[in-house]
Amino acid sequence: MLKKNVEDLGQIRGKRVLVRCDFNVPLKGGVITDETRIVAALPTINYLLDNGAKVILCSHLGKVKNGPNEGESLAPVAVRLSEKLGKEVVFVADYNVTGEEATKAVANMKDGDVVRLQNTRFRGSEETKNGEAFSKELADLADHYVCDAFGSAHRAHASVAGVTKFISEKGGINAVGYLMEKEINFLGNAVENPVRPFVAILGGAKVADKLNVISNLLEKCDTLIIGGGMAYTFLKAKGYEVGTSLLDAEKIDYCKEMMEKAEKLGKKLLLPIDTVITDHFPDPIDGEIAVEVVDSNAIPADKMGMDIGPKTQALYAEAVKSAKTVVWNGPMGVFENPILAKGTIAVAAALAETDAITVIGGGDSAAAVNQLGFADKMSHISTGGGASLEYLEGKELPGVVAADNK
Ligand code: 3PG
Ligand code: MG
Repeated sequence: MLKKNVEDLGQIRGKRVLVRCDFNVPLKGGVITDETRIVAALPTINYLLDNGAKVILCSHLGKVKNGPNEGESLAPVAVRLSEKLGKEVVFVADYNVTGEEATKAVANMKDGDVVRLQNTRFRGSEETKNGEAFSKELADLADHYVCDAFGSAHRAHASVAGVTKFISEKGGINAVGYLMEKEINFLGNAVENPVRPFVAILGGAKVADKLNVISNLLEKCDTLIIGGGMAYTFLKAKGYEVGTSLLDAEKIDYCKEMMEKAEKLGKKLLLPIDTVITDHFPDPIDGEIAVEVVDSNAIPADKMGMDIGPKTQALYAEAVKSAKTVVWNGPMGVFENPILAKGTIAVAAALAETDAITVIGGGDSAAAVNQLGFADKMSHISTGGGASLEYLEGKELPGVVAADNK
């Protein structure tokens, strides 16, 4: 990788280092329900603290659609972080994020202290439209900048991208953190420089969300496996009836195109050969539901596909066995329901068993792997949902681009 990392910051004792993390963690009634992203940020923070830097942390939380509010305050993250680091984290609760309070807190810092700023999205479009004034205010607080927010790296926001220009202007360094580096190495190597055979597995609800991922991965992989809701649009494109299954009607032609592309490139494109069907969507999502298994070309008009069937599970597991690199994004079925999670479990188990490099895209697939207890069996689980998808599309991420080159 050609980006400067934290070790390239040189002598940082006494330096103020602004670190952009992705602390966009799930909260329920003010309580953090998954601390993965906080834990993932610790190596960079600890490196900076161990080397005597003054560490100023910033992040967004939630969408902040209706302006600053306590429900989207980063206060709970500051508390959890303090527990994890085993030291005080000074939280600047000011909704302005930067400004007088933040400046005062930073001025009071001693070497090895941590200050945590408020939710950057409390500045509204100044943050999300990469505003120059807010970018500069952030840069004014620090000497150097470190982006470790892989989950936000696809956002060209002030705290992710804009800030770097003003750090450079004052002679500071813009580096990536250990988490960013790890994400880029695993996802980047898997896609650009995979140990072959390279098997990519895509699932999830909609073809429309993954158009460019499908197309890009077809070029890069040896075998592309399709499951989840999006498989039914492919089956339809093959000429099968899919009953009341999820269907992206406008994307049927696209699926045909992708099947032709696979053929032309000599790539294997695997679709479900059998499917688990129900007569309605479970409500609640994890409620009891009666299921049947049919071949993919025999889905009755009034039934919907909800998961890959046992023959498909075996087929996909076999394909995984032959791989040296596997990238997986998107569940194979409605994995929130134990009755409809078997396909997703089978794929997770196949990945857990192989010695291949296994990379899990963030979002639902990461949730599935965690929830099903396979997390420690994977080479890498991305902390980015949208960001890892854009990476798999072959896009450059603004948060990566903004870091200084080595
Ligand atoms: C995420 O969880 O998707 C990232 O933190 C980015 O958040 P966003 O999708 O609201 O930009
Ligand atoms: Mg998102």
